[in-house]
Amino acid sequence: MTIIWWPGRHGFWHWMLLISLLNSASAQEPGFVSIDCGATSNSTDPTTGIHWTTDAPYISTGKNQVVDRTVKSNINEAQLQTLRYFPPGRSKHCYTLPATPNTTFLVRPTFLQGGIEPLVDSSFRLSIDSTIVEDLTWNAPDIDGVYSYEFVVATDLTSDVIIFCLLPSGGTTAFISTLELRPLAEGMYDVVYRRKYLQALVRFNIGASDSDPVIRYPDDPYDRAWYPYRGSISAAETTNEITADGLFDKPPSKVLQSAWIDPTSFWWQFTPQNSTLDKTKIFYVNLFFAEVQTLKPKDVRAFSLSLNGEMNYPNLTLGTEANVLFNKALTITRTGANFSFEILPGATLGPVLNGGEYYASIDLTLSSTDSRDVNSLEVFKSSLGLSSWAGDPCLPVPYDWVTCDMGSTPRVISIQLSNFNLTGTIPSSIEDLTALTDLWLDNNKFQGAIPDLSKLAKLKTLHLQNNLLSGGIPSTLASLTFLTELFLQNNKFSGPIPADLESKSGLNLQTSGNDKLCAPTENCPILPPDFTDDSGTTGGGGSKSGGSGAVIGGIVGGVIVAIIVIGLLVWFYCRKHRKPSPVTASSSSRPTPTGASNASARPPTGAAGVRQARAFSLHEVEVATSNYKTKIGEGGFGPVYYGRLPDGTEVAVKVNSETSNQGATEFSTEVSTLSRVHHKNLVSLLGYCEENESQILIYEFMSKGTLREHLYGREMKGKISWKQRLDVALNAAKGLEYLHNDCIPKIIHRDIKSNNILLNEKLLAKVADFGISKLAPEGDSNSTSGQTTIVRGTTGYLDPEYYAHSKLTQKSDVFSFGVVLLETISGRPPNSKDYNLVEWARRQLNSNDLDSIIDPFIKGSYDPESMWKVAELAMGCVEPYGVNRPDMTQVVRALSQAVEFEEQKSQTFSSQPWTPSSGQGRSYDDYSSNNSTGSPYPPTQGSYGATTEYEPKPLFTP
Ligand SMILES: *[C@@H]1O[C@H](CO)[C@@H](O)[C@H](O)[C@H]1NC(C)=O
Ligand SMILES: *[C@@H]1O[C@H](CO)[C@@H](O)[C@H](O)[C@H]1NC(C)=O
Ligand SMILES: *[C@@H]1O[C@H](CO)[C@@H](O)[C@H](O)[C@H]1NC(C)=O
Ligand SMILES: *[C@@H]1O[C@H](CO)[C@@H](O)[C@H](O)[C@H]1NC(C)=O
Repeated sequence: MTIIWWPGRHGFWHWMLLISLLNSASAQEPGFVSIDCGATSNSTDPTTGIHWTTDAPYISTGKNQVVDRTVKSNINEAQLQTLRYFPPGRSKHCYTLPATPNTTFLVRPTFLQGGIEPLVDSSFRLSIDSTIVEDLTWNAPDIDGVYSYEFVVATDLTSDVIIFCLLPSGGTTAFISTLELRPLAEGMYDVVYRRKYLQALVRFNIGASDSDPVIRYPDDPYDRAWYPYRGSISAAETTNEITADGLFDKPPSKVLQSAWIDPTSFWWQFTPQNSTLDKTKIFYVNLFFAEVQTLKPKDVRAFSLSLNGEMNYPNLTLGTEANVLFNKALTITRTGANFSFEILPGATLGPVLNGGEYYASIDLTLSSTDSRDVNSLEVFKSSLGLSSWAGDPCLPVPYDWVTCDMGSTPRVISIQLSNFNLTGTIPSSIEDLTALTDLWLDNNKFQGAIPDLSKLAKLKTLHLQNNLLSGGIPSTLASLTFLTELFLQNNKFSGPIPADLESKSGLNLQTSGNDKLCAPTENCPILPPDFTDDSGTTGGGGSKSGGSGAVIGGIVGGVIVAIIVIGLLVWFYCRKHRKPSPVTASSSSRPTPTGASNASARPPTGAAGVRQARAFSLHEVEVATSNYKTKIGEGGFGPVYYGRLPDGTEVAVKVNSETSNQGATEFSTEVSTLSRVHHKNLVSLLGYCEENESQILIYEFMSKGTLREHLYGREMKGKISWKQRLDVALNAAKGLEYLHNDCIPKIIHRDIKSNNILLNEKLLAKVADFGISKLAPEGDSNSTSGQTTIVRGTTGYLDPEYYAHSKLTQKSDVFSFGVVLLETISGRPPNSKDYNLVEWARRQLNSNDLDSIIDPFIKGSYDPESMWKVAELAMGCVEPYGVNRPDMTQVVRALSQAVEFEEQKSQTFSSQPWTPSSGQGRSYDDYSSNNSTGSPYPPTQGSYGATTEYEPKPLFTP
């Protein structure tokens, strides 16, 4: 059902239709979910037609309460008379809201403070899916505040629910008055698809009288709350419909019909609170403009917009259409954002501003619990009547009876359901919780047999005592290697105790109180498990244990065969997809010095299809380099010369100088290492020459030089843009990731620096110089055995942990790479006499000051989100302790995301509806990050202005 609000060509009839729908009390947009928490019956709002329902379909914990005094509010007044509260006990209470996949929604919880009786202090957090979105503290004495929060979220491609939870802390009572879910149109607030949520800080119907009602549904079909805001600025209103359907985020006509106006100028300052700044640095801002006055023929309305004292839009000329300046991302610092609007020379009318929205962005917690665990627990919960525990079992906090290993993909490791008064059989789905170490199901009323637990290979503790379990004790329990406690007492088990269990070393086995159990040697029958509960009749109670054992054996056997087959397939697949089959680094593949006569006769043998470095004669090298005519560099190994092979291939020729102390062993290490390694982001070794005393390496030629030369320094080759820097960083990271993860054996580079990241003709980055690479230690990365204790590398890039303890791991490369990222952001070298890039950047970023470390060359031409992403990544890489640093796979992922942000930025900008008429092409996005001054922004002399300070509590109060 579509309702058309604006009388268009046939407007009158649409109004009629609307009114009749409202009268039939069923008019609301599909997908609206409006929960009148604590209500005992459904109701329909007589003015809006919105259908309010009780909590019952969405949550099964908590208690209803009526607020027995009249609550005044400008939103949902009637619904605030009841609430749902959650006495201390559980650590999370979740509403499961019906949603559609890949859709944007507005989620709006509202709270009436002091509604619970007796009054109590209360402190709880809110989460949406796995992400904690707000932290609330209420002190009982301040009663009757109405607090409404709005979040814009997007569901993923498969999810058809949104889980909204209250997470009480410190044993306090949580509560909620209303909860609303509103689907938004495709494309609205599409930044949420960049894996973010938005939280509304302010949303104003500017120019409306402060006593006007809050604009909601049906005036806004998406039911956002637009608060009237006039302040001391003069305003104008029109009754003409202003259509804004083509605009981003679709402001309603009612909001556009009023505006601030001024003959010359006004300003609007927004200051975020410290607590918001701690949560995010990136804000989203919409400013809406539309003509509200009747213009005379000669009238021209034209004005400029500056942000924080810098001109942003020099010439905004209003036509008949409504317009929006949508700021994809605005970095706001403690001093806030001050927009000032000024009439242009030659114009007859000054600025207008009709509406504005500010949102804080919230980064999502991307992970969710391992899907096998989630699915298995879903079955487990529904068969045991535990469905009131809704949402992800581990995130953002675990169910009270679950303990999780919070790795990058959380796993359920412990279930504690002692004394839960559970009945029926133990669900067999438990066998899929393969990370489980502790299972406590004691002191319930479980019946039937113990399910197959042989897949729970990590199980240490199994407590089943004081139940009504029966049947035999499975001997497969003896195969659980780590099992140390098996408590079976006071059940109805029968048959012999398996000998393997009795003799299992280190196992505390308790079997008392089971009359029909006997010693392994005795001959006693296993009685079929009892099933008196009808939920448990599926166990085939009548069949003989031998028969069912055979069936189970068959199934288990089949599963094992299948696992082996799949395992083999996977193994073959991996073998095939492992990168080049290595020429082993043993002496057999070591290039042997050859005489001049047959030096180039034969390439070293290697696996078929793998490019191999070829042996060159000294004579060939001399011809290629025209007798070492053009020196292009100097490395640790010696000078590097330009060369050209007879087939035209350009090469870089590294010659071991006599002074170099590189021995024959190291030379052959480099040759064999480089021969093994082929990746598009690693500089290829094309050949080598080891003749007489010479040690020469021939590489592909990288014509655009080093990354360093494109960032700073004397040999500058031209600075590169932020997008190019991101691409270089991502490609270099991929090369390094390959060394760390895909080479056999794995390789630690040991000398990552901007001078070792080379660029080819197309600015494709490749990592160079494995001259001092060593094979990574196998297995335990803590072991330093076999490692040289001489610390090598380049100052400014050295991992402090490696430096202090000579402990070399892949995380040492990650540290050096973090330094390269900081160079990339700042265009500065890693250190000099009295300054250290890492220390300096850390200090600036800790005080929230990203701007001061950004290379002035790229100021104003980057997406702030991508910049923050890289800055945060860099700081993660240079963490003092290796364990706290990301690995290269995570680095690659983060950089890919930053590239995505940067690319989306250019797309969204190009579709921005407002074309600045001056044609200067300076984008709003560009501007946003260019807040170079740290000063507050005093209003222009003599102009009117308004300051909006964001107060999260109360956000939208009556
Ligand atoms: C209230 O409305 C909900 C949703 O429309 C529905 O599922 C529920 O059955 C209704 N309850 C009553 C008591 O009518
Ligand atoms: C999901 O929604 C986005 C934004 O509306 C759209 O661009 C994308 O194509 C959708 N994806 C799928 C698989 O429907
Ligand atoms: C916000 O933080 C700044 C800098 O840390 C501090 O000077 C200021 O007093 C804080 N403001 C409030 C309201 O706490
Ligand atoms: C602003 O743009 C309009 C429309 O392009 C143009 O007519 C006018 O001269 C411009 N004003 C100034 C001061 O540049």
